Amino acid sequence: MSLLPTDLVETLQAIRSMGVITGAGVSAESGIQTYRGQGGIYDDEAEGDRTVEALSGPTLQADPDRTWRVVAELACRSVAAAPNAAHDALVEIEDALEHFVLLTQNVDGLHRMAGTRNLIDIHGDVLDTRCMQCDHTGRLTPEQARELQAAPICPACAGTLRPDAVLFGEMLPTGKLERLRQEMYERTPDLVLIAGTTAVFPYIAEPVLLAAQAGLPTVEINPEPTEISNFVRWSLRGPAGRFLPAMAAVITEAGEQ
Ligand code: OAD
Repeated sequence: MSLLPTDLVETLQAIRSMGVITGAGVSAESGIQTYRGQGGIYDDEAEGDRTVEALSGPTLQADPDRTWRVVAELACRSVAAAPNAAHDALVEIEDALEHFVLLTQNVDGLHRMAGTRNLIDIHGDVLDTRCMQCDHTGRLTPEQARELQAAPICPACAGTLRPDAVLFGEMLPTGKLERLRQEMYERTPDLVLIAGTTAVFPYIAEPVLLAAQAGLPTVEINPEPTEISNFVRWSLRGPAGRFLPAMAAVITEAGEQ
């Protein structure tokens, strides 16, 4: 018996495009800690508040070393991790469809590493850097990430580097927001899928909610119910590493016929 409901299988066989939204849960099976829920970065409230404060724009300006100590932990986890079956399945889906876009909140770079091409990493990547003085951009090597103790120095002007990621209290990058608008709202995908996220940010939940409102097929993959579970057509309860390969198999097979 298939893991997927029959009407979802039939829908997947007919679609030509897909918009996907992912969050920390998609990297959980790569050993990356989620933010919320049991064992998440914010699970211990006091520790969580300190982490959020350290990962904020005002702290970066006042005490970049404090921000970088937390970023260094995230960067170390990223370089130690590898894409899992969920990341790989999304690449297979992109290969099989006419059009595909992936909006991720994850800063671990695993979708890019897996090979996703049309990617909007709206929160950036913790290994990417930008100089706070001269805007020079670069990327930390795995060795640099592992050895990081304080804010790194710009190789171009000796200024202070910042992570090229969105911190709390900062604006989202306008170029990526514009791509999100074009990809999710201008050329509406045939199906919108959301996986591994509590969808706390409006710009993350909105593409799914608007698609559902417009009568488009919508799917959620999450072991736990979330705020948007009641709005999607199919709410699949379980890990992304189990459901996404099953979806990829159906879409790939349909593409070959
Ligand atoms: P959360 O930690 O809020 O949510 C992770 C979700 O993944 C939860 O709903 C889990 O139930 C689910 N989950 C756990 N394991 C899973 C698995 N194997 N397969 C599928 N789902 C699984 O993470 P996000 O929603 O990504 O922002 O958090 C959003 C943002 O909040 C982050 O990007 C970060 C954070 O503050 C910034 O840093 C700006």
